[in-house]
Amino acid sequence: MSEDVFFQNPGPTNIPFRVMEAMRRPVIDFRGTAFREIVAECIDGVGKVLRTQDPVIIYPATGHGAWEAALVNLFSPGDEILSLSIGYFGNGWAQYAKQFGLKATILQGHPQTGVDYEAFAEALKADGGRAIKGILVTHCETSTGAMTDIKRVREVMDSVGHPALLLVDIISSLGCADFRMDDWGVDIAAGASQKGLMLATGLSFTGISAKALEQSKQAKLPRAYWNWSAMLVDGRQQNFPGTAPVHLFYGLQESLRMIAEEGLDAILQRHRSYAAAVRAAVATWSTAGQVQLYVAPEVASPAVTAVILTQGSGAERLRATALADYKVQLGGGLGDLVDRSFRIAHMGKLHASQLLGVLAGVEMTMAQEGIAFGSGALEAARSTLAAPTEPLRLAS
Ligand SMILES: Cc1ncc(COP(=O)(O)O)c(C=O)c1O
Repeated sequence: MSEDVFFQNPGPTNIPFRVMEAMRRPVIDFRGTAFREIVAECIDGVGKVLRTQDPVIIYPATGHGAWEAALVNLFSPGDEILSLSIGYFGNGWAQYAKQFGLKATILQGHPQTGVDYEAFAEALKADGGRAIKGILVTHCETSTGAMTDIKRVREVMDSVGHPALLLVDIISSLGCADFRMDDWGVDIAAGASQKGLMLATGLSFTGISAKALEQSKQAKLPRAYWNWSAMLVDGRQQNFPGTAPVHLFYGLQESLRMIAEEGLDAILQRHRSYAAAVRAAVATWSTAGQVQLYVAPEVASPAVTAVILTQGSGAERLRATALADYKVQLGGGLGDLVDRSFRIAHMGKLHASQLLGVLAGVEMTMAQEGIAFGSGALEAARSTLAAPTEPLRLAS
């Protein structure tokens, strides 16, 4: 991909020059002191982004690895799992659980309005024997840009007094959306490197609560590569399941330093502002009736926005034109949204002028493809960017 493309796929995202430069260094001994110091800095930095004091493990793997690590370390064959899925990735994690012999039930939420918290409370109440051992939740469902309110999920569990572990996929919300592992009583936070952390694909993470660590001692699923007890020494990661990916750690160290310099709160605010600007633009386009925002504003993600074509197809062609003629790489639809929707990622490394350029490129593409759109979208986006950022919706 050439440098001058506006790359708005919801992962992997743009890698800052500073991070790429950090990775252009000679290799060092992955068992030596210098590397251990880098790992320690990275573990502390990821913990800060997760807002946790609990142990963090970093794996050479994609997000799927973090999913699998959580399942095999915590559960035994036949354990019951409840998944609050609202789409493609939520379903995917539940399918993973089934492949390991867990009894995973999906409490399907609405793709456009999110989790049904009342139905969740009822499902927990109905589990009088406390058979459910884990709740799987996707913080940001990347396929649609719908968020789940993790604090509320925890409140529902506490109101019923249900002891299941709370496992949260933060793969596309990490570093983009407000997330508080400790304050919200999250047992497992599973993230990955290639989205809000602005890094290459290849690292994934889990934050692990004390309760989860305790449960992992009883769990009976087989595990080797993912075995936490082989990686943790006195609650801190000291070992890797094989050779540590030194260069990815160089990059992670740099991206975490960039995050610390900008400040996590400022970064989250920037993401909310950019998301609001994209939604303002799409809302303006939608007045002509041919494109629409896919999810309800109350659950809209600060990381990615899905746009649906009301004609029911043509999104892949639109994406191809956007890239070939206007150098804008958009994300495609997933699952049953393939060819019906395209996605504009606004996560990670991005600045306001780039975002406005992307929206202009989408407009030029729609004009070329004969898709009608309301005028004034760029002005709507620009004035939204200039306005004070809206307050946090989902957080306390
Ligand atoms: C919410 C979510 N979960 C899981 C995954 C899978 O992660 P990976 O592709 O890193 O394995 C993705 C990837 O886009 C995602 O967005």
